[in-house]
Amino acid sequence: MIWRTVKVSVGGRPVVDVDTMTIASGQCIRLAGSNGSGKTTLLKVIAGLLKPDNGSVEMEGQLLEWVEAKKILHNKVVYLHQQPYLFDTTVTKNIEYGLRQQGVKGEALRSQVAEALEWAQLTHLADRHARQLSGGESQRVALTRGRVVHPEVLLLDEPTSGMDAESRNKTFELVHRLREQGMAMILTSHELTEEAGLSDMTYEIVGGKLRSI
Ligand SMILES: Nc1ncnc2c1ncn2[C@@H]1O[C@H](COP(=O)(O)OP(=O)(O)O)[C@@H](O)[C@H]1O
Ligand SMILES: [Mg+2]
Repeated sequence: MIWRTVKVSVGGRPVVDVDTMTIASGQCIRLAGSNGSGKTTLLKVIAGLLKPDNGSVEMEGQLLEWVEAKKILHNKVVYLHQQPYLFDTTVTKNIEYGLRQQGVKGEALRSQVAEALEWAQLTHLADRHARQLSGGESQRVALTRGRVVHPEVLLLDEPTSGMDAESRNKTFELVHRLREQGMAMILTSHELTEEAGLSDMTYEIVGGKLRSI
C-alpha cells in the first residue's frame, strides 16, 4: 500500500505531515523518532484506528480516502500496542480470539492455536492467565495473536521498550521469523540504534515528516 499526504494535527499543531509512504509487501520498515514525534499517531492512521485530517491510500489499484479505506485497513492491518493489551483470560483464549472472529472453530481452531503456540515457543504457557505473564511474554502472546489472523501488515509500536535483553532477543527472533515468512511490518523505536539488521529500511520522523536514513 502507498500512503499519500497524511496529515494529523493535535490542537492545531501538525503532528504528522507525511507526503508519501510505501509499505511494500513483505517489507520490514523501521520507524524511528523521539518521544512525541508522531510514531504512534502515524501507525494508528495506517491501522484505520485514527482519522487523519487528510490522507489517502493506494491499495489493490485503487486510491481511497482514509474514510473509504478504514474497513479494509481493519482487515489488512494489525496494530500492536506498546503495552500489549491482552484479554483477562488464558493465553490460549487470547490467541483463539481473532480466529473465532473469523469463524474458525472446533478442530481447526484447536490445531491453529496449537501451531501458533508452538511457533512462538509459548506452548508451556498455554493455560497461563494473561495477568501472570511477564512483559516480554505478554508481548510475544500479543504478537502471536496478531500473526494468527494473517494480516498483510503488522504494526509493532515500540515492541521491546522497557524489556530486558533476553526478552528483547526473543521478541526480535519472532519478528525475524515473521519477516522470513513475508509479513510486512513497521516497527517503531525511539532509539536509532536498536534492531539494526532487522529491517529493510529505516525512516526517522522529524517535525511530522519522514526522512529516509
Ligand atoms: N490523544 C491525544 N491528545 C493530545 N495530544 C496527543 C494525543 N495523542 C498524541 N498527542 C500528541 O501528539 C504528538 C505525537 O504523539 P505520538 O504519536 O504518541 O508520538 P510517539 O509515538 O512518537 O511518542 C505528541 O506531542 C503528543 O503529545
Ligand atoms: Mg508512541
